[in-house]
Amino acid sequence: MSAQDDIKRLTAPDIRARKGGQPIVCLTSYHAHTARLLDRHCDLILVGDSLGMVMHGLETTVPVTLDMMILQGLAVMRGSKRALVVVDLPFGSYEASKEQAFMSAARVMKETGCGAIKLEGGRRMADTIAFLVERGVPVMGHIGLTPQSINTIGSFRAQGREEAHWGPIEDDARAVSEAGAFSAVIEAVAEPLARRITANIAIPTVGIGGSVACDGQILVLEDMHGLSPRVPKFVRRYGDLGPAIESAVAAYAADVRSRAFPSPEHVYPMRTKGK
Ligand code: KIV
Repeated sequence: MSAQDDIKRLTAPDIRARKGGQPIVCLTSYHAHTARLLDRHCDLILVGDSLGMVMHGLETTVPVTLDMMILQGLAVMRGSKRALVVVDLPFGSYEASKEQAFMSAARVMKETGCGAIKLEGGRRMADTIAFLVERGVPVMGHIGLTPQSINTIGSFRAQGREEAHWGPIEDDARAVSEAGAFSAVIEAVAEPLARRITANIAIPTVGIGGSVACDGQILVLEDMHGLSPRVPKFVRRYGDLGPAIESAVAAYAADVRSRAFPSPEHVYPMRTKGK
């Protein structure tokens, strides 16, 4: 057995136990090779339904299917060994009933081997979260801005910018926590509200455009590398791969056009018979 085989993958209870402790490092990944790069540095890798926009050029996450999530979830599981891998349930795969949610979550867990699923919604999903957790499905909640509801909320604007609107978002956070989720993403909510929710609920919060006070942070990998066409204002850029890829492609195109592209003869030298 190699040292690599000894690495123990983090579990949902491990993440749950990090409430108020060392900040939880989370990123999205949709591929085996990026998952391999992230694995040493991240506690949690999310196979987010943002893959619809980032990988497929969709306008929203609404058209993403369970099959798309399973395919990429499998790739991320192949590429990682240590991080907890969480796979998003996409729009339409869990909202109709608790039973529908269980069937979708069970398929994702059986077919990918991931350690947990994530779903969007607060109070309205609390019964479903409790139903899943009681049946062996670790659930990560997602409150604040819930992009799968774009057609009812109308825009990707930050939530809770007026104190008068905080109540329902706090209720959502409490409902998700009390229903048994092991953690909750808080997306695009006013900083003092994210801070207050973090102080008041029992499970770790993972902020994306929330507050530095959250128990962990998550970003979409391509957003932090300048590879997404539309990047939310709150994202800090840690790299600029877009221009780097474009200039490498331009150099390659120039080599091909000017016949400066190296021929492979030095890589596969001709063999002379008898030598
Ligand atoms: O789909 C996704 O990438 C997400 C993150 C934004 C948290 O849900």
